[in-house]
Amino acid sequence: MKQFDYLVLGSGIAGLCFALKVAPRGRVAIVTKKDRAESNTNYAQGGIAAVTSKEDSFELHVRDTLAAGAGLCKEEVVRTIVSEGPARIAELIELGMQFSEREIPASKGARELDLGREGGHSKRRILHAKDVTGREVERALLNAASQQPNIEMFENHIAIDLITSQKLGYVGANRCLGAYVFDKKSRAVETFAAGVTLLATGGCGKVYLYTTNPDIATGDGVAMAYRAGAAVANMEFIQFHPTCLYHPKAKSFLISEAVRGEGGVLETQDGVEFMNAYHPLKSLAPRDVVARAIDSEMKKSGADCVVLDITHKPARFIIERFPNIYQTCLSYGIDITKEAIPVVPAAHYQCGGVVTNVDGETEITGLYAVGEVACTGLHGANRLASNSLLEALVCAHRGAEKVTADKPSPADFKIPDWQSGHATNADELVVVSHNWDEIRRLMWDYVGIVRTNKRLQRAQKRLANLQQEIHEYYWNFIVTSDLLELRNIATVGELIVGCALMRPESRGLHYNLDYPAANPEWSQRDSVLKKAL
Ligand code: FAD
Ligand code: SIN
Repeated sequence: MKQFDYLVLGSGIAGLCFALKVAPRGRVAIVTKKDRAESNTNYAQGGIAAVTSKEDSFELHVRDTLAAGAGLCKEEVVRTIVSEGPARIAELIELGMQFSEREIPASKGARELDLGREGGHSKRRILHAKDVTGREVERALLNAASQQPNIEMFENHIAIDLITSQKLGYVGANRCLGAYVFDKKSRAVETFAAGVTLLATGGCGKVYLYTTNPDIATGDGVAMAYRAGAAVANMEFIQFHPTCLYHPKAKSFLISEAVRGEGGVLETQDGVEFMNAYHPLKSLAPRDVVARAIDSEMKKSGADCVVLDITHKPARFIIERFPNIYQTCLSYGIDITKEAIPVVPAAHYQCGGVVTNVDGETEITGLYAVGEVACTGLHGANRLASNSLLEALVCAHRGAEKVTADKPSPADFKIPDWQSGHATNADELVVVSHNWDEIRRLMWDYVGIVRTNKRLQRAQKRLANLQQEIHEYYWNFIVTSDLLELRNIATVGELIVGCALMRPESRGLHYNLDYPAANPEWSQRDSVLKKAL
């Protein structure tokens, strides 16, 4: 058994920020299921929303966040996160993060942070590192973590399940004691025990057939927390990003909303601008509106995609501002300085998650959740662009402060070793990959941008059958990471459908043709699911 003071599951912005803050006070294990940089964070393009300019104010950022969230944000949480953002940004810069700068006009060479714009923001307020903000965040944080002797990193280790006092049969308040972790290289399951466990496992884009997310995003943290008895909320609010590159060879490549922020216009393949028919902010309307509009245009015309045109901007500006998007599109034969970019919506961000307060505390003692895995109330029914990196920064800091102030008393529980099934059968691997594909396709077809009760119920039935098969496998066969992730995407699929069926209205990202309007009775209500233990 490995014993630490702090067990951090995930090495994206949330996990690394928390680890760096608690490391001076105890031993930290960071468990991460692939290479240390592989995370949604690493692919973030647009940037981090924070109030840093004289023309902006906390009040405006709060107002934009509440408007995007369609009535469901927790205003106190929004105010806390928005107002603490600038201090956390300053710390990130101190750690070595390099944001893009620009020359202050008429200042004889003085420079200031360059601020981008994205949908739903009334001001330019997005700090960015060209179009590879996340890569720069990971570089800076991993570099800082490598200099911290109290942090030990376990790559290619996938957490299977949380260890809790209730699961072990102890009575009294449920308490998290650590996690069982599968070492992908040795194929052994190890026990990691810790007084404090942080879930920083990110989102669940891979539950859907088309997504902007990398392969790590299988909702493991939400599934583990749910199995452990924590409350999970608002999972119906899956954000579909309007502009994922449409190309047969491109896998999950995002075309940042910042491209529209700099003047890019959405058009049909015939070159007709269409967003003016849907929203006064046109191509820069909130994401739920834009994704639904694209979906509707594609259904109307039968086209496979729409296009995003920024060719009216000078080529030098495009290449300088969006070097990664320019080069990647060029590698697929699309010169974005000369031609419009084919785009489609794809699953992008999980607004719901494990219920926490703004300090990352869950209902289970010793278990914290920060970042995309958590549901703090910041995003409500639709996240404002670039607010997620901000939320992770602020809540990781607050969580770290909290765990030091309320350090749990040493635990005295006997933790048994992991018990695994013993069967292997290579032929059966095809069943695992078939079930993966089936879940992702049925979620895309039945639980996508536009929903109906009938489609949701159909999805619920299919998922229940699949869960039975997966359950059998899980207990009889030796675990593999594919099987562990399959079990998690099935659970998260069920949670998304379960929350969607609870909400008798359309709000933000949840659009149900059977209830096309918002229901005032649900304007302040979260859809919460909790497993009976
Ligand atoms: P992640 O960064 O996803 O990290 C999760 C970590 O957990 C990974 O290290 C993963 O390997 C690990 N992990 C997962 N499961 C397990 C397990 N079972 N065991 C062990 N380890 C596990 N947001 C913005 O605010 N601004 C942007 O510009 C922006 N652009 C984006 C662009 C793209 C293409 C994508 C996909 C997202 C973007 N987002 C953006 C969203 C944002 O990047 C994420 O919400 C944020 O990075 C999540 O950070 P995190 O630390 O919570 O999770
Ligand atoms: C983007 O660059 O469009 C992504 C921003 C975000 O998801 O917040």
